[in-house]
Order: sequence, then structure tokens, then C-alpha cells
Amino acid sequence: MKVFEPFKLSGLELKNKIVMAPMTRSRAINNIPNDLMRKYYSQRAGAGLIISEATGVSANGTGYPRFPSAYTDAQIKGWKSVAKGIHENGGSIFVQLFHTGRVSASLNFPEGGETIAPSTIPLTSMEMYTDQEGMQPHDVPREMTNADIQQAQDEFVQAATKLIEAGVNGVEVHSANGYLLDQFLDPGTNQRTDEYGGDYFNRARFTLETTKKVVDAIGADKVGVRFSPYGVVHGMTGEYDEITEVYTYLAQELSKLGIAYIHIADQRAAMSAPEFATKIWKNIGDNFNGTMLGGGDVWSAERAEELLNDGYDLVYIGRAFIANPKLIEKLKNKEELIAPDVDKLYTPEAEGYTDWAI
Ligand SMILES: Cc1cc2nc3c(=O)[nH]c(=O)nc-3n(C[C@H](O)[C@H](O)[C@H](O)COP(=O)(O)O)c2cc1C
Repeated sequence: MKVFEPFKLSGLELKNKIVMAPMTRSRAINNIPNDLMRKYYSQRAGAGLIISEATGVSANGTGYPRFPSAYTDAQIKGWKSVAKGIHENGGSIFVQLFHTGRVSASLNFPEGGETIAPSTIPLTSMEMYTDQEGMQPHDVPREMTNADIQQAQDEFVQAATKLIEAGVNGVEVHSANGYLLDQFLDPGTNQRTDEYGGDYFNRARFTLETTKKVVDAIGADKVGVRFSPYGVVHGMTGEYDEITEVYTYLAQELSKLGIAYIHIADQRAAMSAPEFATKIWKNIGDNFNGTMLGGGDVWSAERAEELLNDGYDLVYIGRAFIANPKLIEKLKNKEELIAPDVDKLYTPEAEGYTDWAI
């Protein structure tokens, strides 16, 4: 089957076409990647590529509890160890970099954190978990100044640069799922009147500038970008005017930058998103020269193969990797897959994380 054949991702040799999807697992005590995480990722190094859980680029970008970041020396050292573990087991890793923007609770911030976003529109349709006081309302964000925008972009560059020095294979710029970059793209969360708001060229500026700066720092071959068109998670609008145009424009501009891949998050099964209103991933793929990565609700090699036949070059798998560390072998052998323990998705312990049979 094609899915088990090797693939060259901008020069990086992947041993198969299955990518472990980015999944927040909240084991990074004090936001530092640790030995437990090294073990978890090493166990899953059979994937052609691992994309790490979302990783904060700064204190301001660290609005959830216990997710890893990549701006202090201790955090980078932790990532160095995780990458080494994956490499020793024959795998590769891109670290997914994000900034939570308005999806933050101040109790979760490390010292110096503040909730900032394109506009002062709070996320009110849901609350944010904190270890100290349980569920809390999201903060009303402060509107980012131009200086804040430049700083946030530099934070992506610094994190990317340090991670590459530490030995990770690349980074994914997270412009999906309602976090800061997506908050700029979406007219429901971006009501700015400067060059970062208004028409879709302006709304796309933050993602494109950030990606270009990261590309200039570490090389286009080490950069991917994730999008979630039509996504509604974290209060996003879903379908809006000219949505096809904005993603076509993004694809064309990212193609010019020559990045390694565009990653389309399909949130329907895992995050109850509505159906895609159009085959937008085809518009994106038709306007992008690099690798297209897609997936969503894949639990068999046959389903992965269908996605390859539908135009994707690589297939991501998320939830099926949680309780099946040796997923590739299980898919090859058509073994029954174990469902994850949903009560242990975000708990701090090893249970439900590294204790699945391998
Ligand atoms: C526990 C969990 C954590 C997730 N965390 C992230 C994340 O950090 N970044 C991201 O882009 N998507 C995240 N997602 C979405 C997955 O990357 C993926 O798109 C989704 O689970 C659908 O794939 P699946 O049906 O194969 O699970 C998460 C999903 C789950 C289930």
C-alpha cells in the first residue's frame, strides 16, 4: 500500500506516509518537556513524522496549564532530549509552535503572561481549565499594538531557531483551531482597522509575515503550516465571506515561500465541527507546490489510502496513536485498535499516556 511507502518531505526521508498529529497531552509540568514526554514520543517513533503537541512561543502564548513551551533554556533542553529519543528510535519530529492569544486564563500564565489578541473580543462560549481553580472564564484580551505584533512574530522566530539548534527536524506554524494566528485570519475575532485587519489580504498578513520570518531564520524546508478552514473550535466563525479566497491566497503565498507542507486539520470527528462546505483543501492544494498533509478520523490503512487517492501526499492520525503506540504495525497487520481513555487525555500522570502495551 502507498501509505507504508517512504516519502521525501523537502529532503527529509520519512519511512512511511503516516504522520502523528499534534496532540496536547498536558504532561509538561511547569511547561518544560520531560522524560515522560520523551518516553511517550519515542514509543510512537514508528510514524513517518511526529508533529508535537502545540508548544508556546512565550509567556503570553502559554495560556493553558502544563503544555510545553520553547522560549527558556530549560524548555529547549527538554525538547532536545525528546528529539534525541525520537531520533534514536528512527523517527523525525516537527514541533508545533503556537500562541494562545485570547484562548487563555491568566492563572495559567507563567510570570509575565498577559492575554493579548487582534481585538478585544473575549471567548465567551466556553471556559478554560486551570489547575488552581478549575474552570475559569477567558480573559478579555488587550488589543495587540504593532509592537506586540512584531514581538509575537519574533517569538516564533526565536523558538524555531533554538529548536533547530537543539536538533528537532522542523517546526509547524500553528495557524489553526482558534489560536492567535487563526484569530487574525477570522473576521469574527479580528476587527482591526490597521494593515492587520479588514480585507482578507490584511487578515492573512500576520500568518504570512510570521511564516516568512521563520523561513528566513531556519530554511523553508523545515517549516510547515497548519490551517483549519471551516473550523469552529474556540469560538471561530466557521464559514465566512471569501473563505475560499483567503485560503487560496495563503496557499499561493506559502508556495512562493517554498515551505515543506500545508497541513489541513479536519475537525469534524474529533472536535464536532460541521461538514466542510466546499472541498477547500483542493483549492489549497491546487495553489501550493509543496506537500499536502490531511487526515481526520483515520483508524485503518484503507482510510489512509483513500485520503492519498483524494490528493493528499501524507496522512495524519491523531487519536488512534494515543492507545496504540505501535500503530503502524497494527495497521499493517489489521489488528484491532484500542480506543484512548478520554478521562486521561490531559491528566499529568503516566497513566493513559505511556502505559499502553507496546
Ligand atoms: C487530545 C487531543 C489533543 C489535541 N491537541 C492538538 C494540538 O495541540 N494541536 C493541534 O493542531 N491539534 C490538536 N488536536 C487535533 C488533532 O491534531 C487532530 O486534528 C484531531 O484529533 C483529528 O484527528 P483524529 O481523528 O485522527 O484524532 C488534538 C486532538 C486531541 C484528540
